[in-house]
Amino acid sequence: MSTPQPVRIGVVGAGLMGRELAGVCGRWTALVDHPVQPTIVAVADPVPVARDWFRRLASVETFADSWQPLLEDPSIDVLYLAVPHHLHESLYLDAIAAGKDFLAEKPFGIDLPAAERIAHAVAGSSCFVRVSSEFPFYPGALRAFAFAASGALGDILDVRSQFAHSSDLDRGKGINWKRRVETCGEIGVMGDLGLHVAHVPLRLGYRPETVYAMLDKVVTHRPGPDGAPVPCDTWDNALLACRVPSLDPADERLFSMLWETRRIAPGQMNSWSFEALGMDGGVRFSTRSPSVLQRFALRDGEQVWEEVQPGNASAWPTITGGIFEFGFTDALLQMWASYFAERTGALGSRFGTATVQEALDAHRVFAAALASQASGTAVAP
Ligand SMILES: NC(=O)c1ccc[n+]([C@@H]2O[C@H](COP(=O)([O-])OP(=O)(O)OC[C@H]3O[C@@H](n4cnc5c(N)ncnc54)[C@H](O)[C@@H]3O)[C@@H](O)[C@H]2O)c1
Repeated sequence: MSTPQPVRIGVVGAGLMGRELAGVCGRWTALVDHPVQPTIVAVADPVPVARDWFRRLASVETFADSWQPLLEDPSIDVLYLAVPHHLHESLYLDAIAAGKDFLAEKPFGIDLPAAERIAHAVAGSSCFVRVSSEFPFYPGALRAFAFAASGALGDILDVRSQFAHSSDLDRGKGINWKRRVETCGEIGVMGDLGLHVAHVPLRLGYRPETVYAMLDKVVTHRPGPDGAPVPCDTWDNALLACRVPSLDPADERLFSMLWETRRIAPGQMNSWSFEALGMDGGVRFSTRSPSVLQRFALRDGEQVWEEVQPGNASAWPTITGGIFEFGFTDALLQMWASYFAERTGALGSRFGTATVQEALDAHRVFAAALASQASGTAVAP
């Protein structure tokens, strides 16, 4: 084994996701022979209690109340940018202007025009930029992707990509930035969960030609900091019914694809799922049952759904035995392993983190969904 390349990371936004990266780096030794060794050396957050959480990491040298010192620090190789959506554009553009590589959080700008400006700046730079989307790194999801990509489905009939949780079922849950248009964006739940459902279909080449959207605002007010109700004006749930051109250029048929993102999905804790059915085969995977992948085939005239147990066979091998079950934090470790490997040119044929183009294409679909909701018609992205 060759010595891993050290990479010094600066974290901008020391909230939920910033702390998850600290957990990922702490577990990095679980990876076998990864070419990179990342270390968090700096953190920026205007909220002292948020950045002080990082004092438990002996490696952190810089605690800043703004992102500028991290952008100006030549010793920092990679930034993780995990701030509320209304700050994405200014932060990402500043990082590009400073020549920094980064993993951006989704949705990559508060709306489509912001995403276009960021993507334009990335294209004019040499910065290595990818966008966070970890669920496809479950072994079962990777197998589902590979099965669909292999052509085993034949002519595609239906695709369903879903992310559903119930964190907003409780009407008494307080307001936060993710529930306000000003800070989360007009696209609401699609900004929060949409790239998670778009990543695999877009990577498979399933590009919506039209979108018919059913968007729901269910809880219109939530308790503010003093308990008084304040407007909660984002979309809670979004169901996008898309028509998609066949992957076969000789076939003019369109197939159906549903993208579902729900913050209020009774009975769902935090489930990502992908299902694709074709004339020759089908595949289903949900993080709700992470140890099982289902495949459909016609065998000797019988219609057979079979269960495959992918085990802990991740793209980047770990010390964890293959029989053990995989989870959310494992998916984050694998996504970061993928990001750093691709940055050093060592990704090979493995599944890669979501690209800037995929984030942009997802935004185009979400913008079309808003137009569809307003007009009551199907809209082309
Ligand atoms: N990939 C995933 O599974 C996943 C999950 C949740 C959130 N996210 C994304 O991560 C990003 C952050 O979400 P979160 O859940 O961590 O939010 P959060 O509210 O927990 O954390 C955001 C942090 O950003 C800080 N911040 C605000 N202004 C800042 C500034 N000017 N400079 C530096 N820091 C600043 C806040 O103080 C806060 O600590 C969002 O884009 C969100 O969509 C991704």
